[in-house]
Amino acid sequence: MLWEILKWVGLVIVVIFAGTALTGAPFVPSRRKELDIIFKKLYKLNKNDLLVDLGSGDGKVLKAASDFGARALGIELNPFLVLFSKVRFISNPRVKVRMNDFFRSDLPTETTAVYVFGDGRDMKRIAKKVEEQAQKLKRPLFLVSHAFEVPRYKPEKTCRAYFLYKIEPKSK
Ligand SMILES: C[S@@+](CC[C@H](N)C(=O)[O-])C[C@H]1O[C@@H](n2cnc3c(N)ncnc32)[C@H](O)[C@@H]1O
Repeated sequence: MLWEILKWVGLVIVVIFAGTALTGAPFVPSRRKELDIIFKKLYKLNKNDLLVDLGSGDGKVLKAASDFGARALGIELNPFLVLFSKVRFISNPRVKVRMNDFFRSDLPTETTAVYVFGDGRDMKRIAKKVEEQAQKLKRPLFLVSHAFEVPRYKPEKTCRAYFLYKIEPKSK
């Protein structure tokens, strides 16, 4: 009986992880040491920032952002990772996690920077999403992309496998 339950729980976990990987990048965490470097050298994160991590995984980027004094919001589709992160930041009011598809979520009005460790095939769509949000907020947003460049955008700066873009509101 216990074996049957464990089998079903395992199957549900596999299906959820595989399902979220179909909608975007699978869960692979960023490295904390690299985050410390890029939030110092590529985009200087500080207490005035609200960083949104599109696909926040286990919350590693949110934790780094919070250690730099910034506020952070994670948007994540996988319910296990959302639950894990919510528990992780239960006593940190400057970090929030939302369960949602980031393509369907609006960014908070205070957002200053967006982080994404996505999938190469999604980068064009992600940049378009950030551009729409910049248009709504009527000001530029900074986008830090890990591992993938955004087609047709020129990075402001690069550092290791990270690219920094300043996404201007879409001109009509
Ligand atoms: C490569 S991992 C990066 C995790 C975290 N940002 C980090 O750098 O440590 C990508 C994450 O995005 C999530 N994801 C993929 N597509 C998504 C979508 N459309 N909306 C929200 N989350 C998504 C996956 O579940 C996964 O946790």
